[in-house]
This record gives sequence, structure tokens and C-alpha cells, in this order.
Amino acid sequence: MRFLKKALCVSALAAASVVTMSAAYAEDIKIGFIVKQPEEPWFQDEWKFAQQAADEKGFTLVKIGAEDGEKLIAAIDNLGAQGAQGFIVCTPDVKLGPGIVAKAEANGLKMMTVDDRLVDAGGAAIESVPHMGISATKIGEAVGQALLDEAKARGWDLAEVGAIRVSYDQLPTAVDRVEGAISALKAGGFPEANIFDAPQAKTDTEAALNAATTVLNAHPEIKHWVAFGLNDEAALGAVRASESVGIAADSMIAVGIGGAESAINEFKKPDATGFVGTIIISPKRHGYETAMNMFDWVANDKAPEPLILTAGALAKRDTYEAVRKDLGIE
Ligand code: GLA
Repeated sequence: MRFLKKALCVSALAAASVVTMSAAYAEDIKIGFIVKQPEEPWFQDEWKFAQQAADEKGFTLVKIGAEDGEKLIAAIDNLGAQGAQGFIVCTPDVKLGPGIVAKAEANGLKMMTVDDRLVDAGGAAIESVPHMGISATKIGEAVGQALLDEAKARGWDLAEVGAIRVSYDQLPTAVDRVEGAISALKAGGFPEANIFDAPQAKTDTEAALNAATTVLNAHPEIKHWVAFGLNDEAALGAVRASESVGIAADSMIAVGIGGAESAINEFKKPDATGFVGTIIISPKRHGYETAMNMFDWVANDKAPEPLILTAGALAKRDTYEAVRKDLGIE
């Protein structure tokens, strides 16, 4: 009996020290989270949820904004010098793929990508880097369907409607999103000749506004407009452009992708604008889950799944609060 008691005591002690050890180890873990557009609400949300993972596990999260390739390379070196073990990145330029992979390796850092997937010199996805992105084509199709449904609800004749494809074709996920929207529009009988490309120089609202203004000015014959792009900022840029050339809100239908503050602020306006809806995607999955996966990789040598594609859900002015709640992103 005495022997058994002693044995129990020893194992309890051992268990306690294991707990302390792993806590101390978590404190030594440093993970970077680099994003291409730190001012964009989507990325702010990703950081917020990644921080939740860090607080829960006790590791240090280093948030870095890298708007261009030079800043990104410096950020990776900096993480290496700080003794970080890994990082998650949404790169400003996916074509830097091979260089980013080499930099991470040179610094002994594990790497995962989020949102925008790296490509190699031939333009193919670099599959060796674990990635979490959105189901771009499907979500684009949902955008196209939402545009059609709203046009129908307004009783528009599709022959009199123009579509603004706010595009950023150097980014594969952006192409998949807008092409998804176009395929749904075409399947619904939208005339292909009425779809106009509006290439944006950057993925923000201002660049989309400039791109969309050019299209609107070039087509005074069009009676009503629909607009879409890779994110809420693209759709909002088209809406701002329509307002600036004097198109009424009831002649414009834009549907974005994101559902973060950019969209919410628009829905909160007292009068409805042409920004009719957004496909809400999950910054919680993209921030919290990627950070957790990286932590598990560093702490427990458990490599993340090579590819995770997340879903989205349509939300409008009157439904966005409920949809956000459902997705756990209050
Ligand atoms: C890209 C876009 C962002 C956001 C994410 C979501 O990075 O630039 O605005 O839509 O995809 O994955």
C-alpha cells in the first residue's frame, strides 16, 4: 500500500512537471503572421483570430505587414533573427513563390500560406507549402447567382445590363473568383458581350474605383449595372464609381466577398447603396486555424494538411449579423 502511494505520488509529480515543461516550451515558440495589406479589415480580422490562438496556447505571435516583395523578404529574415520557428503568410505577390520558399528554408522557418497561394516560375501552385484559401470558383459562382437573383427581383431585362468584372488577373484566386461569377451569370442568360473588364492596379477600393470609372464612362448606353471582383473592396470601388458618375443606387447591384468591416460599414448606412451583398468568408478559420496548425507543427511536429479550402455564405443588409454569428465570427 505504502509502495503504491509512493508510486502514485511520483507519477503525479511527473505529470505536473510535464505540464510545466510544455507551458515553458509554448512560451519559447514564436510564430510570424505576415499579410500583404495590413490596413484591410479582412487581414485585421485574421490577425485578431491568430492572436486568440496565441493567447490560448501561450506562444508569441509576430504580426508583420509586407506590402511589397522587399518588405516580405526583410520580414522573413527578421523572423529568423528573432528566433521564430515558423510563419504564415499572405504574400503581396504570388510569383515570388520560389524566392520566399528559399528564404524560409535559409532561416530554418516552417512556412504556410493563407489566402493567396504561391506559384512557381511556370505559374503552377507550389504544393509543398501547406495552404489555406477560399473555395474561389464556388464562392465566385455564389456571387454571380446573387447578382442574377437581385437583377431578377428588380425586374431588369438582362439585355440592358452591363457587368463590371473588377479584375486582378496576376492573382490566381482572383481569376477563379471572377470567372466563377461570370460562369453563373452566363448560365443565367447574361449576355457575354455586356461583360466589361476593369483591371485594378491593387486590390483595394481606390484602385477598383478607378478601374470601374473607366468602364462606366466608356458605356453610357448601358441602363443598369452589376459588379463583382475578388473582395468587398473591389465591389465597393465599383459602387463608389457608379455613385460618382451619377448612377442611382437602384440601378447598381454589386456583391463582394469577405464580410469584414468594409462590408458591415456599408450595410450600416441608413440608405441602401448599390452594395447589395457579400459572401462572408471566415477570418476565424484563416487566422485562428492556421496559427493553431503552425503551432502544432512547431510544438508537436504535426505537419498541417497540404490544402484546405474554406466555404462562404451569402449575406445582405438584413441578414449579415445572423450569418456572422452562424460562422462564429462575432
Ligand atoms: C485575397 C484578397 C483578400 C481576401 C482574401 C481571402 O488575399 O486580396 O481581400 O479576399 O483573398 O482569402
